[in-house]
Amino acid sequence: MRDYWRSEPLRCLIGREEIAAVVEELAGRISSDYQGEVGIEEPLLMVGILKGAATFLSDIVRAIPLPTALDFMAVSSYGASTTSSGVVRILHDLGSSIEGRHVIIVEDIVDTGLTLQYLQQHLAGRGPASLRVCALLDKPDRREVEVEIDYCGRQVPDEFLVGYGLDLDERYRDLPFVAVIESEGEETT
Ligand code: IMP
Repeated sequence: MRDYWRSEPLRCLIGREEIAAVVEELAGRISSDYQGEVGIEEPLLMVGILKGAATFLSDIVRAIPLPTALDFMAVSSYGASTTSSGVVRILHDLGSSIEGRHVIIVEDIVDTGLTLQYLQQHLAGRGPASLRVCALLDKPDRREVEVEIDYCGRQVPDEFLVGYGLDLDERYRDLPFVAVIESEGEETT
């Protein structure tokens, strides 16, 4: 394990093999659902929400044996006082129109659900043929608004997670597994 990963005590929650199995399972479900719906002319469009979903998206897209195109959005929540409104700011928008396309929003983790609710409403307004959501992780205890996750990898407890794309102040995204940062004095894995 690289030394800097040990600068805070980590407990592995979802290991590399389990992540790989979850990715395969979700890719299999997506493949069977979109078989015959997408093709070379109209590939499935997977929209990764930066930066957290980049790792998950790059793995899952390689496990889906259908023509698939990628695009990305980057969003940020407004300040704490307006966060509960679910209004997010688009920092980076899609590169092309999604009108008439089969689109899947790819998220690393759904927490309060506010980001996803905004993205779903916003992208639905751009006229896609269909719009679904794929999230690696779901933290249902933290939910503030009801959102539907069509393809959900794992439900996780209400703990702050890092790794496999998830960060703490831009650190730990490169961990190959999902971990919990323990309080000082607890066990390190
Ligand atoms: P939501 O709008 O509250 O659902 O926030 C979703 C976003 O918050 C995710 O895409 C992550 O970027 C971030 N997030 C939520 N929980 C965690 C966590 O445990 N670790 C790291 N980032 C998180």
